[in-house]
Amino acid sequence: MIELLRTRRSIRKFTPEKIAPDAISTIVEAALRAPSSRSINPWEFVLVDDLATINKLSKAKQHGSEFLKSAPLAIVVCADSTKSDVWIEDCSIAAIIIQLTALSMGLGSCWAQIRERQHDYEQSAEFYIQDLLSLPENIKVECIIGIGHPAEKKQQVAADKLQHDKIKSNFWD
Ligand SMILES: Cc1cc2nc3c(=O)[nH]c(=O)nc-3n(C[C@H](O)[C@H](O)[C@H](O)COP(=O)(O)O)c2cc1C
Repeated sequence: MIELLRTRRSIRKFTPEKIAPDAISTIVEAALRAPSSRSINPWEFVLVDDLATINKLSKAKQHGSEFLKSAPLAIVVCADSTKSDVWIEDCSIAAIIIQLTALSMGLGSCWAQIRERQHDYEQSAEFYIQDLLSLPENIKVECIIGIGHPAEKKQQVAADKLQHDKIKSNFWD
């Protein structure tokens, strides 16, 4: 796992190659194995591989979601917010598990934040997606994970650049 994490970077450029069905099944299995508070599993995952719909997803925000347009797969991570008061935490854990599982198979991915973001001055990014994907009202959207074969290479973060001052021992000081 640490070897994998050493290479982890957000990938926003993808080749047009489709993701193999086996790899998608593995990602789905990993997502469904994510831990959740009280095992409520409030998350729901919408797998989008229709390129026209992915293109529309890439317009969810004015900045920060455009990279999705070259992704052959976008996973919309959402949850039934009426089932759990910690659905955001549960979705975040599932989302990073999706990203790390994709990475473990040589795929690249990046998170596009949707919750608390705007589509434009009038409409939230969440409402834009709820409308686009016909989500029921109780289904809230946290983020979209764009996944594909990497078309960019990124340097791993050097060990001496890690912020060790973030680590405290027993007390803050
Ligand atoms: C909660 C969260 C929200 C993010 N939102 C976006 C986003 O909307 N668009 C984007 O391009 N990247 C987004 N990212 C990716 C970050 O920009 C990226 O992780 C950060 O710049 C560090 O780069 P690295 O992942 O390559 O180490 C998000 C990451 C997290 C954890």
